[in-house]
Amino acid sequence: TLIKRFYDEKVIDHFENPRNVGSMDKKKKSVGSGIVGSLACGDVMRLDIDVDDEGVIKKALFKTFGCGSAIASSSLVTEMVKGKSINEAMEITNSEIAVELSLPPVKMHCSMLAQDAVRSAICNWKEKNPDHFCVCGGDE
Ligand code: FES
Ligand code: FES
Repeated sequence: TLIKRFYDEKVIDHFENPRNVGSMDKKKKSVGSGIVGSLACGDVMRLDIDVDDEGVIKKALFKTFGCGSAIASSSLVTEMVKGKSINEAMEITNSEIAVELSLPPVKMHCSMLAQDAVRSAICNWKEKNPDHFCVCGGDE
C-alpha cells in the first residue's frame, strides 16, 4: 500500500493502534498537561502526565490533532515517559523519537511536537508542585 511505501512499520502500528489516547483530570495536583502546536503545519498535540510523589511519571495520555507521524510520535512518547522521572523525561529528544520511528526528514517537526509536549506537560506539573526542583531551567 501507499502508506507502507513511505512509512516504517512502527509508525503505521502507532498510527493504526495508538497507545494511551485520552485525557486526565487537570484539577488533580499530580497531573501536568501540556499543549503545543506546530507553526509549520498547524497541528496540535496535548499530553497529560500523572506524576507520583517521587517525581516519577506513572501514566501519560495524549490527544493529537495532526498527521500520522504526529499521532505515532505522541503514542510512542506516552510509552517512553512511563516509569521515567520528570528529569529523565525532560531529556527525551525529538531525534530519539524520529529514529525509533524512522521518520523521513520532512516529518522531523512532527516528532518535535512530541518532545515539546512532554516538556510543556512537565512544566505545567512543576507549576502545580513548586516544592519540586525546576528541571527545565526555565524562568520560575
Ligand atoms: Fe504537522 Fe506532522 S505534518 S505535525
Ligand atoms: Fe519548567 Fe521549571 S520545570 S519552568
